[in-house]
Amino acid sequence: MYGNFSIKKNPVILGIESSCDETAAAVIRGRTLLSSVILSSAAEQAKYGGVVPEIASRAHTDAIDEAVKSALKDAGVAFKDIDAVAVTYGAGLLGALLVGLSFAKALAYTLNVPLIAVNHIRGHLAAAYLCDENLKPPYVTLLASGGHTAILHTKTYTEFEILGRTSDDAAGEAFDKVARVLGLPYPGGPNVQRLAESGKADIPFPRALVKNVSKMQFSYSGLKTAVINYCHNAEQKGEKINLADVAASFQCAAIDPLVSKTVESAKKLGVKVVTAGGGVAANEHLRSALTNECEKAGLKLILPQKVYCTDNAAMIAAEGLIQYEAGIFASMDTNACAQIPLK
Ligand code: KG4
Ligand code: ZN
Repeated sequence: MYGNFSIKKNPVILGIESSCDETAAAVIRGRTLLSSVILSSAAEQAKYGGVVPEIASRAHTDAIDEAVKSALKDAGVAFKDIDAVAVTYGAGLLGALLVGLSFAKALAYTLNVPLIAVNHIRGHLAAAYLCDENLKPPYVTLLASGGHTAILHTKTYTEFEILGRTSDDAAGEAFDKVARVLGLPYPGGPNVQRLAESGKADIPFPRALVKNVSKMQFSYSGLKTAVINYCHNAEQKGEKINLADVAASFQCAAIDPLVSKTVESAKKLGVKVVTAGGGVAANEHLRSALTNECEKAGLKLILPQKVYCTDNAAMIAAEGLIQYEAGIFASMDTNACAQIPLK
């Protein structure tokens, strides 16, 4: 019979992630990362200018076995050593999620170990635990991915409050849309960053911020429209625009408010530790601005390496550990969820 689990200290947890175009597996022992494997279908998706769900599902089906076996091999761990299997059950592409979830269910059932269902966004938050084994709540997080942009106050290992969020597009989504306007290929964010490196941030685009509201609120639709209008106006007048300047100016307008509001939130709350997560936290401009501003404010910044900001399974294993320690296990009836509210 499946069930009857005992809670171990420093458990070996296998994490599995397949919500979008990365098939990833990772192994942790306690907060120590033993291995992390990421097999991506991004190159295939780039031909279509974005993620095609059916291609993602097929790529996961082809890659999941190899990803898990490589992660176990790199970690020097056998199937029998696994104490729990943590897997992303949402949000994401349904067919893609089902590949990882079905694999995880079968493995957890066969090994008779807990199945832990992880919300992908909570995984992004938990990536910071692998960076600093002493990190504990309370802390403030800047979360910026393709689907979410928010500042969160993590109060306990399992509870957080949303201090501010975007009222329309997410920061990553804005990077991807502006990339398309600038004629850059998928994935947009890293390509905008690359182009911005040779540009001057001197075009006065509006900051991605809603002013005069009691809660901190971000907005990317006005900024995105301003970039589109700037390019169209120049085109109509037959003027040549410097794409690198547009990229650099957009990047500052998109990121600087996130950084300043995160630091302001921590200061207001008297919280001394700041973390960051999500694909946009891999952005070099964000990383250096957040590092400088936290230093000036006397805040300790825990910034996961870039590879643990974008999608990976180490963060899923890390959130798996939080839930394992809290005894939050999933049933075999758990289904994939395309959308899960941030809270
Ligand atoms: O967290 P993530 O890998 O997947 C989601 O959970 O959404 O975030 C992906 C998003 C994409 O919109 C991508 O363009 C953006 O993160 N991104 C970046 C960078 N790397 C990834 N945006 C700006 N600069 C980057 N270097
Ligand atoms: Zn993600």
